[in-house]
Amino acid sequence: MKELIDKLYKNTVLSKQEYKYLIENFNPEISEYLFEKSREVRHRYYGHDIYIRGLIEFTNYCKNDCYYCGIRCSNRNAQRYRLSKDDILSCCKEGYELGFRTFVLQGGEDNYFTDDKMTDIISEMKNNYPDCAVTLSIGEKSRESYERFFNAGADRYLLRHETANNEHYSKLHPDKLSPINRKRCLRDLKEIGYQVGCGFMVGSPFQTAENLAEDMIFLKEFRPHMVGIGPFIAQHDTPFRDMPNGTLELTLFMLGLIRLTLPYVLLPSTTALGTIHPLGREKGILAGANVIMPNLSPVSVRKKYMLYDNKICTGDEAAECKNCLQSRMRSIGYNVVTSRGDCKQSAISN
Ligand code: SAM
Ligand code: FES
Repeated sequence: MKELIDKLYKNTVLSKQEYKYLIENFNPEISEYLFEKSREVRHRYYGHDIYIRGLIEFTNYCKNDCYYCGIRCSNRNAQRYRLSKDDILSCCKEGYELGFRTFVLQGGEDNYFTDDKMTDIISEMKNNYPDCAVTLSIGEKSRESYERFFNAGADRYLLRHETANNEHYSKLHPDKLSPINRKRCLRDLKEIGYQVGCGFMVGSPFQTAENLAEDMIFLKEFRPHMVGIGPFIAQHDTPFRDMPNGTLELTLFMLGLIRLTLPYVLLPSTTALGTIHPLGREKGILAGANVIMPNLSPVSVRKKYMLYDNKICTGDEAAECKNCLQSRMRSIGYNVVTSRGDCKQSAISN
């Protein structure tokens, strides 16, 4: 197995079978070997810097019905909310003062936020904070909509591909959602000029080692600027309520593999990872991640954006979240920096 990690470290392409073999057979010793290499590569590109993104969860209305997700439209128990433009701008103000230079607008697919409303919000954010990056994470849209948001000033877009395997995709989503359209969106976003993030849940229901190997091949081919991964965590009001959660060990192993496969990539250590283990986010950084995404949403709505059970940091003010994460990062030898934190690979071709 070490030979396969060495191959990746030297930037040699692995086959699907090789990834699958690693994923099926990894153990604590091989994980540690992988993390030594993935940390080294991360330090080569990003030193000991940690980039922070201010996450603004601005709506939990969603027209989709993804089987895993706590804010799916069929969940009658979800208490729905939307933030106004003013609410969003005051999150940015608070975030800016705390040193955030990237704001991530994330939400369900909510038709209330028309393209006109979104472009208005994006332009105002960019006018008020021209030195900040605006990242969108609002799901599948037409190419025209993506172009409008880009022209209004949006810099980046996060859209997890969820799984590269079409059959697996159909086990996680109703028929209305198609993996072909999801990948079309990702291609359009990259062609338009966004810095693009894709990603998947680790341990999602019905996922096999082969599926994860297919995800790795997809990442290598698509070459995103960012990759968001975190463990699947069951939510009690969804059809997957009784499914087992993804594990810390496999999520960390996948983070290490992603860092070696895409050395320059922006790789968050996610809240979901911090939810399944008290030191999950620190361990994610030590496995090769370089981004964290503290929450800037008003505390009054935090508990309502419950994608999965027991989500952490739902009671803390933005400043507390930032300070807590800053000291957690310091404790493992890393520094949170005030910077847009762009991807170091400037010339990722389309
Ligand atoms: N609506 C946008 C979209 O579809 O990209 C953004 C919001 S969506 C809630 C963001 C991500 O949350 C999804 O891509 C999914 O991977 C993750 N997610 C949803 N439910 C989850 C769960 N139960 N456990 C872990 N992650 C989950
Ligand atoms: Fe729409 Fe989860 S089902 S955000």
